Amino acid sequence: MKILGIESSCDETAAAVVENGNKILSNVVVSQIDIHAAYGGVIPEVAARSHIEAIQPVINKALADANLAIEDIDAIAVTHTPGLVGSLLIGTLAARTIAIINNIPFYPTHHLKSHIYANWLSGFEPSFPLLSAVISGGHTQIIYMDRHDNFEIIGTTRDDAIGECFDKVAKILGLPYPGGPAISKAAESGNPQKYKLPIPKVGELDFSFSGLKTAVLRAIQKELDLPITTPSYELQNHLTEQQISDFAASFQATAIKILIQKLKKASVAYPAKSILLAGGVSANHPLCAELQKTFSKTHQVFFPEPRLSTDNGAMVASAAYYSIQSGEKPTDPYELDISPRSTIH
Ligand code: KG4
Ligand code: ZN
Repeated sequence: MKILGIESSCDETAAAVVENGNKILSNVVVSQIDIHAAYGGVIPEVAARSHIEAIQPVINKALADANLAIEDIDAIAVTHTPGLVGSLLIGTLAARTIAIINNIPFYPTHHLKSHIYANWLSGFEPSFPLLSAVISGGHTQIIYMDRHDNFEIIGTTRDDAIGECFDKVAKILGLPYPGGPAISKAAESGNPQKYKLPIPKVGELDFSFSGLKTAVLRAIQKELDLPITTPSYELQNHLTEQQISDFAASFQATAIKILIQKLKKASVAYPAKSILLAGGVSANHPLCAELQKTFSKTHQVFFPEPRLSTDNGAMVASAAYYSIQSGEKPTDPYELDISPRSTIH
């Protein structure tokens, strides 16, 4: 079964063709990062306009790269929630139009589910039951699955998402958007022990990342001997290259420690065979290394290859395939609704 997967929930316009859930025939991603970097974050109206320009060429290229015509496609899957409204509208409108004109079965797909299913594109199948940390710019959750297409949220963030925290700390340090890769790079020449940052105290399997961002802010003000009323955007002007690297490394190490601690707790409460990372932050190499180190003797460990960690169409097609296998029926493309927020289902 060949599925065309379309993704436009944030700032990537993406389409891919995947066969039987795990074989990528093509995967095209046009990123708007360069456009948004100038503003230090995603501007929703600009994102929507860029999707309009890119969506058709991206879909055409995904078909061409796979050497297929639209008639060869068995199903169309598209991200319909959660995400930026204007961005979601463009991808879903394109997908619905193609499905209607060509009479192709149509499957709206949840974005977080897609991130989890990026792990089925690695060439190996994770065994159930599994625990997945969904760590992206908008979400931080630990999800337990005892079978395909069945999600139980067992931990979540009480405030900011982990990726958002990387982005905000990067901004304070004067590093470019998106913050995750920039922090990781700066951290390579930094000392992760240099600044002691507190681990937020939140119950059970939940997270709080807003406190960690504030802790970094206070630590910088203290290091620079500046009052806590100093605006965060001013701090970068006083920091040396080495201090930026040391703060990046100390922050990254703390964020990784928080995540690994919670996953350890989760693995005790919810015995599982596999542990997965999913979402943009799973592109973080030191995090993946720490996950391997902690769990490889007791669990199968999975994280997507970096190009599949961030938003792409292949993961959408893969998620839809396993939903179809689990009995999901197609949706009427005339009936589809988008929604900016929703829990995984
Ligand atoms: O999954 P994604 O592409 O979009 C959302 O669904 O949110 O995730 C984007 C997030 C951003 O916050 C970005 O800073 C973070 O993933 N990210 C990283 C890395 N690469 C991307 N965070 C840490 N380390 C990275 N290497
Ligand atoms: Zn995403």
